[in-house]
Amino acid sequence: MDRTVIYVSKRVFPVSDAVKVIAGIVEPARLRNTGLGVTGVLVATENTFAQVIEGPEDAIETLMRSIARDPRHCDVTVLRRESLSRRRFVRWSLAYQGRSAYFEGFIRPLVAQPDAPRADVDRLVDLMDRLAAPTSRRLSDEGGSP
Ligand SMILES: Cc1cc2nc3c(=O)[nH]c(=O)nc-3n(C[C@H](O)[C@H](O)[C@H](O)COP(=O)(O)O)c2cc1C
Repeated sequence: MDRTVIYVSKRVFPVSDAVKVIAGIVEPARLRNTGLGVTGVLVATENTFAQVIEGPEDAIETLMRSIARDPRHCDVTVLRRESLSRRRFVRWSLAYQGRSAYFEGFIRPLVAQPDAPRADVDRLVDLMDRLAAPTSRRLSDEGGSP
């Protein structure tokens, strides 16, 4: 059965380096995730990251060990780690990179809050799903009208 992990973290590099640093995360991540059969979504705001990853349990745990020790962020706070009967994201994508105070307002209060209310985490994942919508179709849409 697949597993999902949802976490938030704080960026530790200067905003002036953001485009370069995030490109340095995203390009190798696409390759590695494809190889591992991992899908999900990453959001990068001015000060925070939020990520959902989904995939085989071993792959997710291996990946989370890498992510947790990555010096490009800190305060990695796992909000949800659970079995998944059906994936929500069909590929891995960078859904948002920018300075939106609106998105950051969702993410920031969850950093260092591993016991955040389930409804708050659901709201964050819904937001990430909407952000990813142009680049990722839901599995439930597959086989629908052309
Ligand atoms: C916010 C953030 C998200 C990341 N997401 C992924 C990811 O989805 N897939 C991936 O392979 N690496 C991701 N990385 C990079 C990993 O932390 C790590 O550098 C990379 O997987 C290489 O692993 P290794 O250092 O254990 O060799 C992410 C890094 C950061 C800071």
